Amino acid sequence: MPKRHPGLIPLSHDHHHGLALALRCRKQALGQIKPTGAEGLRLRAREFLTLYAAELRSHFEAEEGILFPKMSLHVPEGEELIADLMRDHESVRLAIPKLQATVGLGKVIFDLGDLLERHIRREERELFPLFEQHAAVIGADEIAEKLTNFLELARRRD
Ligand SMILES: [Fe+2]
Ligand SMILES: [Fe+2]
Repeated sequence: MPKRHPGLIPLSHDHHHGLALALRCRKQALGQIKPTGAEGLRLRAREFLTLYAAELRSHFEAEEGILFPKMSLHVPEGEELIADLMRDHESVRLAIPKLQATVGLGKVIFDLGDLLERHIRREERELFPLFEQHAAVIGADEIAEKLTNFLELARRRD
């Protein structure tokens, strides 16, 4: 991944974890990771729920509460992209309870991995460059501080 504005590094760090998980989900659903079958799917579902609780949930909150609103305000050309990204967050949230399912878990895990990967790649390839390009007008340094504080607090609480 390209060199990031320092304020985005905590989010990019989470993205690395998310991408690795997304890849494991897709491979698991395709039977390419042992144990295969229902046992492996259950393990992967549990792993997803654990990372969601530890990182993804607060990551989404930080983006929705701090990063997206500031960008919407100062970078009008990012508006559609941000609306799409918010919809992705909602789709992930809606899929979370389905990870408890016993039937059709393979498809749930495959789709969730696919969604998470596409979402993160769009943020890294489209949203973050837009942020960096408009860093001065957005007030990137102030956002950086807020993101760091928010994530620290949210994760200490968990
Ligand atoms: Fe996001
Ligand atoms: Fe993100």
